[in-house]
Amino acid sequence: MTLQAIKWDKMDGKLEILDQTLLPATTHYIQVKDVEDGWKVIHKMQVRGAPAIAIVGCLSLAVEIIQHPEYEHKTAFRQNIESKLNYLVSARPTAVNMKTAANELIKLANFLCDSDIYTLSQMRDKFISDIEEMLRKDVADNKSIGNFGAHEILRNVPKDGFTRILTHCNTGSLATAGYGTALGVIRSLHELGKLEHVYCTETRPYNQGARLTAYELVHDKIPATLICDDMVAAVLKTKQITAVVVGADRVAVNGDTANKIGTYQIAILAKYHNVPFYVAAPMTSIDFQMPNGDNIIIEERSEREMTHMNDKRIAAEGIKCWNPSFDVTPASLITGIITEIGTFKPSELIRVKKDTSEYTNK
Ligand code: MRU
Repeated sequence: MTLQAIKWDKMDGKLEILDQTLLPATTHYIQVKDVEDGWKVIHKMQVRGAPAIAIVGCLSLAVEIIQHPEYEHKTAFRQNIESKLNYLVSARPTAVNMKTAANELIKLANFLCDSDIYTLSQMRDKFISDIEEMLRKDVADNKSIGNFGAHEILRNVPKDGFTRILTHCNTGSLATAGYGTALGVIRSLHELGKLEHVYCTETRPYNQGARLTAYELVHDKIPATLICDDMVAAVLKTKQITAVVVGADRVAVNGDTANKIGTYQIAILAKYHNVPFYVAAPMTSIDFQMPNGDNIIIEERSEREMTHMNDKRIAAEGIKCWNPSFDVTPASLITGIITEIGTFKPSELIRVKKDTSEYTNK
C-alpha cells in the first residue's frame, strides 16, 4: 500500500486530502470542494510540505472549474482564475511553490485568453489538464531527485560501503504527490541497497518528523531512528553520518535556503563535523526572483504549537513565545542542491537560471 496524501478523481473532479494533523493515530481524508476549502486545509496544515501545498491549491481550483463551469466569457474566466490563485498564495507565505504554480497558470490564462484559437470550453479543459499534470510531474521529478541525490552521496562512499543519513522535518510522500524530495533520496538509497540507517529529527514544535517522517519510514520498513532536535550534534559526532539531506520551501538564486525551523542549526553542526549537507528540492522551489535569503518571508505560527501538546498546556503560564516556522540556511553551509535536473553547487544556480529559462518564475 502506498501512502497517498492527495487523492484526485479525474472523472468526478473530486479532491480529497489526508488530514496530516491527525497522523499517525488516525487516517482520515477530507474532501476539498472549492478554493476556500483549499485555502483552509493549507492554512491549517492539514496538508503541508511545499510541493503538496501547490498541488492541492491548484487542484482545489480545478475542482471549482469542473463543478462550476458557468463563465460568460474568457475574460471573466481569466480574471476569476487570477484572483483565486493569488488568494491561494496567501494561505502560507514561505514556500514558493504555490506562487510559482500561480504565476505559470496566470501566464497560461493570459495566453489562452488572448488567443483566437481557444474557445472558453477548450480554455477550461487546458487549465484542468495542466493542473492534473502537476501530480504526475511531481512524482517523476521526485524520482529523478532521488536518483541524482543517491548517486551524488554515493560518490564519496567506497564501492562496498553503505550510507547513514540524517534528515529533518517531513519531505516524503506526505509532503509531495508521492515518493518525496529528501525522503526520495533516502528511498532511492534504500532501493539501491545502499542505506544502512536513517536518523530523523522529531521537528518541534509541530513534530512533522516524529508524526510523519517516522510514520513513512516505518511504513516503508526503512531502518530508522527518531531523535529529538537537540540530539543532532551528538548523532553527528557519534553515528558516522554520511550526509544530511533536507528539503526546501524556497531556495534563493544565491543558494540561501528557507526550510523548516532548525535546518540552519543542523547545517552549522554538519559543517563543524565535516558532514556534507544537501538540500533536495524540485526546480519549482527555486525562487529566481529572490537574490538571497534576506527577504524571504518567514511564517510565524501560533504560540499554542509550543505551549500545548495534545491540548494540554506544557509551558509555564505567562511565558512569552516566538514560533518562526522556518529559518534560512546560508548557501555557504550547503554542499549541493539536488534537483530533478541534477545536483548543483549553490553558486551554480545563477547559471541554471540562464540555461533553463523555462523554469524562471517571472
Ligand atoms: O511547515 P511545513 O510542514 O509545511 O514545512 C515543510 C518543510 O519545511 C519541508 O522541508 C519542505 O516543505 C519541503 S517538502 C518536500
